[in-house]
Amino acid sequence: MAKSIESFIAGLPKTELHLHIEGSLEPEQMMMFARRNGVNLPYASVEEIKAAYSFKDLQEFLDIYYQGMSVLQTRQDFYDLTVAYLKRVHADNVRHVEIFFDPQGHTERGVPFEDVIEGILDGLAFGEAEWGISSHLILSFLRHLSEDAAFETLAQAEPYLDRILGVGLDSSELGHPPSKFARVFAAARDKGLKLFAHAGEEGPPEYVWEALDLLNIDRMDHGNRSMEDPDLIKRLATDQMALTVCPLSNLKLCVVDDMQNHPLKRMMDAGLKVTVNSDDPSYFGGYMNDNYGAVTEALSLSKDDLAVIARNGIEASFVNEDRRAELLDELDAYLAMA
Ligand code: HPA
Ligand code: ZN
Repeated sequence: MAKSIESFIAGLPKTELHLHIEGSLEPEQMMMFARRNGVNLPYASVEEIKAAYSFKDLQEFLDIYYQGMSVLQTRQDFYDLTVAYLKRVHADNVRHVEIFFDPQGHTERGVPFEDVIEGILDGLAFGEAEWGISSHLILSFLRHLSEDAAFETLAQAEPYLDRILGVGLDSSELGHPPSKFARVFAAARDKGLKLFAHAGEEGPPEYVWEALDLLNIDRMDHGNRSMEDPDLIKRLATDQMALTVCPLSNLKLCVVDDMQNHPLKRMMDAGLKVTVNSDDPSYFGGYMNDNYGAVTEALSLSKDDLAVIARNGIEASFVNEDRRAELLDELDAYLAMA
């Protein structure tokens, strides 16, 4: 890739709208937390951990991801994890983040919900004070668990509703369609929460339709397989439904066989509102600039394409209007001199 486009990406003010904080756990940190908490890992070294990160599908990744997060046990751990992530994306000039956390992955191991959410919220507050990165937190339900379990988790979140943006839906997609969670999403909406769902990552276009029509989501995570259904493409374009696309994730989880076949550019050409994000950067081999760089190189994106993607990220975020104006000004100032 030409140096100039690389440095253009590096300086571009960016938003990250699809990031699982547990997926930012770096192998070095995993070893450190394991030592600190007396957890036995099935790996003897950072190299062994990295060697395990080869996945043929989403489930193979998830098995390793849930095992990895077992080293996170205290409020301090969640704080440290969040601060480390923000420090890393500050280096990528990320200006606003909306991050997921998976409370059920922790409460089912006996970690109190309060310790998880308070550690993360304190970390986000530090990131804003230290690096000026604004943020929102999204509580994600694990879709391989029951809807009743999701309702229990929503009840645990009750004291924190003014400090979370919304709810999401992640984990094993196939066999767990959005319709399974229609009631709990309606309840979350009644509480004033925004709604997000992973759909069309491995699941068929029908799951994307369900996320739109049964869950009434505000933003779609992934959405890749929407491209198989022309009516769905039309619907997403007409509604200007934002999609949080995660290129390196798609490659690592074999959602695409080659980055040159990634649908991002075809999505843009079809009028879809796409954003670029990192998903689980420590497992998938790259943070924000790496994701922008990988699709830019593989799909020959222009600076204008990248500016559209960065602008979509600001428009698809749920910042207040003052902050949105600030972020748009920052982007416009950058584009004027780039
Ligand atoms: N897909 C579904 N669930 C997840 C992912 C993902 O890419 N990352 C963390 N949980
Ligand atoms: Zn995800």
